[in-house]
Amino acid sequence: MKTLPVLFKSVPVPMRQREYRVGRTSKWYTWSPELRVFLSEWCKKVRKTRYVKRVYLSNRKYYHDTYSLKPKFINNTKLRKQLDSIADSFYKLKYSKNSIFFTNMIDGSITENGLHCFFACLREILIKKFNDRFSAMYSPIYTRETYEKDFPLHSDIFIPKILLMLFVQVPKGRTGGTFLLSVEDLKKIFSKIKLLPKEKRKLVLRILKETNRNNDRYDEFFYILHDEDNPWNKELQKLMNRKREYIKLESGQGYLIHDRLWLHGRKRSKSKITIKRLQRFVFNTKQTLEI
Ligand SMILES: [Fe+2]
Repeated sequence: MKTLPVLFKSVPVPMRQREYRVGRTSKWYTWSPELRVFLSEWCKKVRKTRYVKRVYLSNRKYYHDTYSLKPKFINNTKLRKQLDSIADSFYKLKYSKNSIFFTNMIDGSITENGLHCFFACLREILIKKFNDRFSAMYSPIYTRETYEKDFPLHSDIFIPKILLMLFVQVPKGRTGGTFLLSVEDLKKIFSKIKLLPKEKRKLVLRILKETNRNNDRYDEFFYILHDEDNPWNKELQKLMNRKREYIKLESGQGYLIHDRLWLHGRKRSKSKITIKRLQRFVFNTKQTLEI
């Protein structure tokens, strides 16, 4: 049996992230040595990003677009084969119930542009493996969203379930960071709120459990959690704010979560959200499909 490349290597908590509780208590990783060698070579070869296309998978949903790049664009058989094996490792990746963090994912030889092509190509290989064009998305972020207000806790509820976020251009200072709240904690919060009807609680959990590509329920989900007119809103916000974790990740850092086990959000920022803020790769694995 062929051994697959190891994707990540465990590293100590970066010094500046020790001040955040979730930073101190979580596992941190970086690219494994073999991925680092591959990506350095890859990044040298793929300086031109103009081949990366933005593809719209359906006109039904605001979030249904992805960057994509056919692997044949890379004129190097060895790199293409290695990329295939790396895609297998992503396919077989075992997710943790905890959020995990990354650091030093972009450096002198592993460039933002190189990673942009890498994720766009990886997406193409994974969708072939799954035979489903929704099973992996390298999804652009939206710059129309306001940045002066918090982007409250939510799940993206894309069809794929594992969310890998790598930050590239982050605003300076302590604002603009990431909020995280586990669905386990959300359930505990729900049980404390008397004004929240049982059927609404159940609906939120059902939306997280069932993914239906013909019925996007993100808005429904979001309004139960955040609509100010809901009689339970004040208490829910108070308890979620108390329980959520906050961490300000730096350029080259990121996190990986199971989107149905964790909610994420963004603290307001002093500067505009640019398209280069982060690289968002969302994918299914063998394991997410089995459950
Ligand atoms: Fe999101």
